[in-house]
Amino acid sequence: MRHLLLAAIVSTGAWAWAGSASAQDAAAGAIVFKTQCAGCHSVDEGKNIVGPSLFGIVGREAGQVPGFKYSPANKASGKTWDEATLDAYITNPQAVVPKTIMPYPGLKDATQRANLIAFLATAK
Ligand code: HEC
Repeated sequence: MRHLLLAAIVSTGAWAWAGSASAQDAAAGAIVFKTQCAGCHSVDEGKNIVGPSLFGIVGREAGQVPGFKYSPANKASGKTWDEATLDAYITNPQAVVPKTIMPYPGLKDATQRANLIAFLATAK
């Protein structure tokens, strides 16, 4: 019984910590977005620049933004941009979608990627 109680306290504490950390992560991710992505992408709905709008990107299928001319590689990729797929793509776009026309070499810092994805998840 004592163990159960302890486990409950520990897991509740961990949950609360994760909750508050994620708001901070998103704020840090907004800065990563500005420096790494905003030259080509907006998070405003329907606003395509060099790349498609990333509004609602987390959980969406590849190649779905109306009015954006995707590469055949992206359109046929069959990817769904869940957090793991986005993480791999941002690390090395060409490895995940060979022949993509996204001219981005990749972001190698895992913390920056996690923060960035936390930010993208708020863009909906
Ligand atoms: C130099 C311009 C450029 C930069 C910088 C850039 N992208 Fe892109 N991005 C593109 C283009 C162009 C495409 C379309 C790719 C295709 O059709 O093959 C794209 C596609 C994407 C897609 C797929 C969207 C969809 O609807 O399928 C995601 C996700 C994405 N970019 C995320 C990012 C993130 C996150 C960053 C910052 C780390 C970033 N991009 C930086 C130009 C860029």
